Amino acid sequence: MIDFKNEAEALREKVIAFRRDFHQHPEIAFQEVRTSSIVADELRRLGLEVQTGIGKTGVVAILEGNSDGPTVLVRADMDALPIQEENQTEYVSQHPGKMHACGHDGHTAIALGVANLFAKYRDHIKGRIKFVFQPAEEIGSGATAMIKDGALENPRPDVSLGLHLWNTMPLGTLGVADGPVMAGSSSFSVTITGKGGHAAIPHECIDPVPVAAQIILALQTIVSRSISPQDNAVVSVTKLSASDAYNIIPEQVTLAGTFRFFKVEVRDVIEKRIREIATGIATASNCTADFWFHHATIPVVNHPDVSAKAREAFKKLVPQELHVHQEPTTGGEDMAFFMHDVPGMFFFVGSANAERGLNYGHHHPKFDFDEDVLPLSVALLASAVADYVMA
Ligand code: NI
Repeated sequence: MIDFKNEAEALREKVIAFRRDFHQHPEIAFQEVRTSSIVADELRRLGLEVQTGIGKTGVVAILEGNSDGPTVLVRADMDALPIQEENQTEYVSQHPGKMHACGHDGHTAIALGVANLFAKYRDHIKGRIKFVFQPAEEIGSGATAMIKDGALENPRPDVSLGLHLWNTMPLGTLGVADGPVMAGSSSFSVTITGKGGHAAIPHECIDPVPVAAQIILALQTIVSRSISPQDNAVVSVTKLSASDAYNIIPEQVTLAGTFRFFKVEVRDVIEKRIREIATGIATASNCTADFWFHHATIPVVNHPDVSAKAREAFKKLVPQELHVHQEPTTGGEDMAFFMHDVPGMFFFVGSANAERGLNYGHHHPKFDFDEDVLPLSVALLASAVADYVMA
């Protein structure tokens, strides 16, 4: 049996070097050209069969074992965010306005660490590991782009695994939940059309502003009145545009926002109610309502069998008392699309170190994590993979 902790420790310097290099050279959604070429070069060097340009800048690589068995998908995301970094580390972003503020630099480095580890033990693998390095997680588009380009075919994985470094959990802790772990995310806009004119003579206009105001308030009844109290959801109206002047009644008002949910059925109820409420109020006011919906991600749902198996493996690496109860987060994650098609498990590894000031939240300009999480995560992810291909 492989000692995953020792093997991952041996890769510490290498994984940290990859992470720092990616951190210094952040690339945002679908621009991960440099990152993906470093990933592809390393995987080729390790002897994997590598395909590039999957979902524009994604990389798929297969590590084939020495006999037949299951195919395990290991997924990492490569993209950074359009944020100006405010840290002063030696590995600070070299690109103004771009920053790895979510830890995807770490995820990519960890998956390369796992590839290194298994390349060494290739002869012990029964089946194969399919590494998927995806672009554009932050805009919720990379996973679907890769799936469209065949990332889940030839061969089709039997199980999908991924992780997120999590800066609200202290280093050394771990969260592996069953069922929904991250929300699905959709955005919407409603355009109310009336009849514009002078603000001093409203009776000759059809003012869409009070109509929009009624709709905004009424949308707040969706979660409280149309969703079961056993389910969770969020509906937030965040954007409003009317006229730009004090004395003009606009022809149109557009309101927009986002909604989050842990079941696709709940998403569908929310969309249906937004349409019904806005159409009803608009019609009663002699206005019309037009809609735009964008369903970015679906919920990330862990398969209980896959989670249970992983928890057993993780006990050997992280003591039971440090396995924390992971509340589902209303953040979105497009790993959901791989896990929708292939049963899987997405887990959270605590990466914060408050004493060292490494506990800013994700997407914060001072986000950074304790790099001790990197070898630990390599060991964890590798041990979960090994359960399928080295059993
Ligand atoms: Ni992220």
